[in-house]
Amino acid sequence: MLKLAVVGDLSQNDPSRLAQALDAAIGVADVVVQLGDINPGYDVVKDRMKSSGKLLCIPGNHDTQGPGNWDASLPGTPKQWQKSIQGITLIGLDNTNDTIDQAAWNMLNAYAASPAQPLFLFCHKPLSPIVLPDGTESTHIMGEGALPCADAEKLKKFLEPLDATLCHGHYHGWTLMKPGYGTVVLDGRGGAAPQIGYTLFYIQPEGWVAHSVTL
Ligand SMILES: [Fe+2]
Repeated sequence: MLKLAVVGDLSQNDPSRLAQALDAAIGVADVVVQLGDINPGYDVVKDRMKSSGKLLCIPGNHDTQGPGNWDASLPGTPKQWQKSIQGITLIGLDNTNDTIDQAAWNMLNAYAASPAQPLFLFCHKPLSPIVLPDGTESTHIMGEGALPCADAEKLKKFLEPLDATLCHGHYHGWTLMKPGYGTVVLDGRGGAAPQIGYTLFYIQPEGWVAHSVTL
């Protein structure tokens, strides 16, 4: 059984809040994915990538422009990656510019050519609107301001036959949703939300359980 934790946005808050979420997640999980908007917590993730050996990160929109950004603070750290751990495929993508680049499609196409393992896909911005607890809809998503977003639509279509689990940040809360293209967990509580927390998955080849953990 793979224990996967996802930790969301810090988004210009106090880095000690991200440290609190990451340390709790690293303490219990086999692998931890930070879902972007690390800024200004780069030293926090750098230290833990090195010391734990189990932290993977993807960029968010707050990580693209200075002062303080991924390129300056995490030089050489891949923004997109693929891992196979305990029979589970993990793919991290960079959709901060509201596009999916060719390198990402190459990874996705390689997976889809032989989708024998369950797929967990991580990209910062959600692909479709979120219904908030009060029933209103948020379009704080990939392509916001110019919807529909061509690459988000293309990715959703691509994912339809794959039964993937998607994890996103960008939304500073927690929610689970089941649109037509997969199962989606949003978690933006790595310091940006009033409540600090993370999501812990227990994953087996036949399925998974997710727990929303608050600190
Ligand atoms: Fe964001």
